Amino acid sequence: MDKMRITGGKPLNGTVKISGSKNAALPILVSSLLADGVSTYHNVPNLMDIASILRLLEHLGAECRMEDHVVTIDTTGFSNHEAPYELVRKMRASVLVLCPLVARMKKARVSLPGGCAIGARPVNLHIKGLHRMGAQVELNHGYIEATAKKLTGNEIFLDLPTVTGTENLMMAAVLAEGVTIIRNAAREPEIIALADTLNQMGGNVQGAGTSVITVHGVSSLNPITTRIIADRIETGTFIAAAALTRGNITLTECTPQHLSAVIHKAQLAGAQIELGNDSVTVKGPETIKSVDVKTLPYPGFPTDMQAQFMVLMSLASGLSIISETVFENRFIHVSELRRLGADVVVSGNAAMIKGVPKLSGAPVMATDLRASASLILAGLAAEGVTEVHRVYHLDRGYEKIEKKFAEIGAQIERVPE
Ligand code: UD1
Repeated sequence: MDKMRITGGKPLNGTVKISGSKNAALPILVSSLLADGVSTYHNVPNLMDIASILRLLEHLGAECRMEDHVVTIDTTGFSNHEAPYELVRKMRASVLVLCPLVARMKKARVSLPGGCAIGARPVNLHIKGLHRMGAQVELNHGYIEATAKKLTGNEIFLDLPTVTGTENLMMAAVLAEGVTIIRNAAREPEIIALADTLNQMGGNVQGAGTSVITVHGVSSLNPITTRIIADRIETGTFIAAAALTRGNITLTECTPQHLSAVIHKAQLAGAQIELGNDSVTVKGPETIKSVDVKTLPYPGFPTDMQAQFMVLMSLASGLSIISETVFENRFIHVSELRRLGADVVVSGNAAMIKGVPKLSGAPVMATDLRASASLILAGLAAEGVTEVHRVYHLDRGYEKIEKKFAEIGAQIERVPE
């Protein structure tokens, strides 16, 4: 297992090219199962989570290749309907194969993903929605076992606008008989990206990006060639990096419109931000101002940016409150940030952050993907040396993060433990 060694305290200056979106790529790669033949995906980030989903698709009988950010998936040999515990356990998003399996194979046996560091994260809404479309679903021995002679369109109300739940159900509805209406659907850009993909395959999905998605089922879909959108969370992480190192960073090949909430809060914190069509330039402020933040489903402030923004607030000039409303236990980075000198108190779903003039480097332990990113950011801002242990979490979701930071002036290296 590797660790990252960072000597912080330097402003970061330069240009960073943003990679393709992990969270858009995962459902889109899975959607290949809905058609017979070879699909090609460009701008796929080279990440551990992508390797995990390709391994699962191969287990199901597809042939997958990845070269230079281009993935081809041949589903001709797709024949297996079981997603085993060993593969789902590594990555919760593996549950995205549930609905495509039922839509194509009429049956699925998918391991229930467990809870994870940030919360219980049930998949009851995926299951309820699939049941509404006529599938028999049972939980046996830790597996979701679903069968359906055919799927039939229906109205589905989601108690919460679940992102992967909405994606899973869109993939069932696209091949179901009749019309499916998903109410209280998630509105994230990744949902629109999947809907665009399904439509390019010959599906009929309307309303993605709003809270009501209407899907007119079709009898079959075609393989396609498409491109993955930019990663908005990677973009946001670099915006935070520029702001808290008082640097000047231009991010290219990104989609600033997907980051309105983060950009707004960064501006309130004092960052100067210039927006291009597919670029953002961020200049960090001399004095970081305190800003309150509440995480919400899109278009609200993303929970996946909460830990990184907390690092910025820990160096602000006053008090700020960050409320986490999406996941119940997403403050595990707090105790590690405290080791660097951050002054943060957690009460229920709120963290109160009293800005300090500086952080000081220390050894810390990464606990989940975005928490790990926050520790890297804290290390970049801190005086002295920070060692972030267990960086495999980072490799799940950030492509060559140390290389990207080194290219803009960070002193950061990966060292084997
Ligand atoms: C996705 C993202 C993740 C992000 C999260 C919220 C992917 C691969 N992952 O995760 O990076 O942090 O959205 O933006 O895209 N819930 C239920 N029942 C369900 C499903 C969800 O109660 O059946 C709850 C969850 O516990 C959570 C909330 O709904 O409290 C939102 O979760 P959800 O949107 O489903 O997150 P993911 O899709 O797993």
